Amino acid sequence: METKKRIPVIWEHFQECTGCSESFIRSDHPLVADLIFDHISLDYTDTLMAASGHNAEEAKHESMKENYGNYILVVEGAIPIKDDGVYCTIAGRSAVDILKESAAGAAAILTFGSCSSWGGVQAAYPNPTGSVPVDEIIKDKPIIRIPGCPPIGEVMTGVVMHYATFGTLPELDSMGRPKQFYGKRVHDSCYRRPNFDAGLYAESFDSQEAKDGYCLYKLGCRGPVTYNACGTMGWNNGVSFPIKSGYPCIGCSEPSFWDNSPFTERL
Ligand code: SF4
Ligand code: SF4
Ligand code: F3S
Repeated sequence: METKKRIPVIWEHFQECTGCSESFIRSDHPLVADLIFDHISLDYTDTLMAASGHNAEEAKHESMKENYGNYILVVEGAIPIKDDGVYCTIAGRSAVDILKESAAGAAAILTFGSCSSWGGVQAAYPNPTGSVPVDEIIKDKPIIRIPGCPPIGEVMTGVVMHYATFGTLPELDSMGRPKQFYGKRVHDSCYRRPNFDAGLYAESFDSQEAKDGYCLYKLGCRGPVTYNACGTMGWNNGVSFPIKSGYPCIGCSEPSFWDNSPFTERL
């Protein structure tokens, strides 16, 4: 691997909260430092790179020119298309323009997070800025969805590592998600599942039953309809995940979760 050319990566940030970047940098296996120093050349990401302003933009354009057709484009954040895309502009240009330019020379696009994969919370009804996911704008490139709000860090680095190692895209499901990480429902690997099967449900968040591992289905858990690896991989190096912390899954990796979560109230 050490003698292999590192894969160039351009990472765009549009309508987002940077939670996906925060999750990415906490990846423990592989360590994000190993990924960045040994396997990819992260040529542009305005939140992590040392350069800023014109220097950062120049570095991006230089890399895109040199590696045309061979770089991976990562997109974090949705793209607002209402009113000519005015609701997200960077260096005086709209996100939609920047995305089209960055996608033109990309070998493949990874959409990190539910914003770039599905539209995200900014697309919540009535979607005032017209936020859309990447695949509503780019139609001629392979797009790998890595949804979650945010996705698990090791899932993001795992997909990048797969491409860096094998030079191929991972096997995807019918919605463009890597099967390896999104092949099962949270419900399928939830440690509270035996209590679901036994009909033992917590009736309130602060109950002893909730603390004792009773199923959170009656508190709105979306685990039965959510495809993600939280129950098997966990968060923070596998320490926990929402359900283990006593909180129902809100389906953060599923389309339109922002309008369908147990706590959404339509006014
Ligand atoms: Fe933030 Fe969630 Fe969007 Fe990631 S998917 S940028 S965590 S709002
Ligand atoms: Fe399924 Fe949620 Fe109950 Fe876990 S807590 S068993 S995911 S319904
Ligand atoms: Fe999201 Fe549900 Fe996992 S809310 S973090 S998919 S347990």
